[in-house]
Amino acid sequence: MSPVQLPESDLSRAHDEAATCLGVDELGPDLHLLTLEAPAASRAALPGEFAQLQVAAGPLLRRPFSFCAVDPGQGTVSFYLRVYGEGTRRLAHLTPGSCLRLLGPLGRGFTLPETPGTSLLVAGGVGAAPFPHLAAQLLARGERVHWLNGAAGSAQLLPLRLMPGGLAGSVQVTFDGCSGRRGLVTDALPELLGAVDRVYACGPNPMLQAVAEMVSRLRPEALVEVSIEAPMGCGFGTCLGCSIPLLAQGVRVPGLCCRQGPVLEAGQVDWEGLRQQPAHLE
Ligand SMILES: Cc1cc2nc3c(=O)[nH]c(=O)nc-3n(C[C@H](O)[C@H](O)[C@H](O)COP(=O)(O)OP(=O)(O)OC[C@H]3O[C@@H](n4cnc5c(N)ncnc54)[C@H](O)[C@@H]3O)c2cc1C
Ligand code: FES
Repeated sequence: MSPVQLPESDLSRAHDEAATCLGVDELGPDLHLLTLEAPAASRAALPGEFAQLQVAAGPLLRRPFSFCAVDPGQGTVSFYLRVYGEGTRRLAHLTPGSCLRLLGPLGRGFTLPETPGTSLLVAGGVGAAPFPHLAAQLLARGERVHWLNGAAGSAQLLPLRLMPGGLAGSVQVTFDGCSGRRGLVTDALPELLGAVDRVYACGPNPMLQAVAEMVSRLRPEALVEVSIEAPMGCGFGTCLGCSIPLLAQGVRVPGLCCRQGPVLEAGQVDWEGLRQQPAHLE
């Protein structure tokens, strides 16, 4: 009997291209928007897919980042970066004209609907990164798009101006209550699920699990897709560093976040197994 398998990313779509930095906008403490000229990636990148960005000449591994915005007309791509360690610090200090290698698009992204309906996009912290691109693609298909953005404080929220115009609704939630409502995204979620056909979520893995469980209880007919986070070395399936526990037709199978993910249907994730993996990012 052949083993149960989940679909994998199509590596033939990825290019290793020389990208040029057009600028880095400071959006808040340790939050930046890096814009690169990268024509091949700008034409190919779908929402939820990511790129491996070179962070330095020399032996440092490339780092994975979700495509935040793409403009194929201008040949540009943007990344929403939180400075975490050495690699992200270097990217945040790039100057216009600097060159770096970009490998992408990689991974499997969000499923775009064939017929329009209503989507709810749920972000926690820097997990907001893929949503400007996703919202733009959904709106272009006539989808009604609601936006739920949560973060520790107002300085950690993705600025609303980075989202495309035409959202059906936008709710901000902060843990300290300084912007929008006080609390967690799951506090605001129930009232937004009314007529939702699809929920797309990105943020810390425990938040994704809580969102998935709440939607399956309150709106079981909705599709739920989550963008899972795992430490990545190569981004294309050779280092095995991004191993995550998955479920295929209810059977536990080992998976790779960079090939079967990062976006998965919530029911394809072995949440219990994932919870037992060591946390790698605060
Ligand atoms: C699919 C995917 C998309 C991502 N998109 C974004 C994004 O849009 N914006 C953003 O700010 N961050 C994003 N991240 C997290 C980002 O890749 C890490 O913050 C970054 O790699 C840390 O590198 P560093 O050099 O600053 O930190 P260091 O501590 O120096 O990194 C140490 C090492 O661990 C690896 N590592 C550590 N944490 C992570 C992590 N969470 N994911 C992957 N590798 C990690 C790095 O590759 C590196 O080899 C994403 C992660 C994944 C898996
Ligand atoms: S990051 Fe190397 S196998 Fe996934």
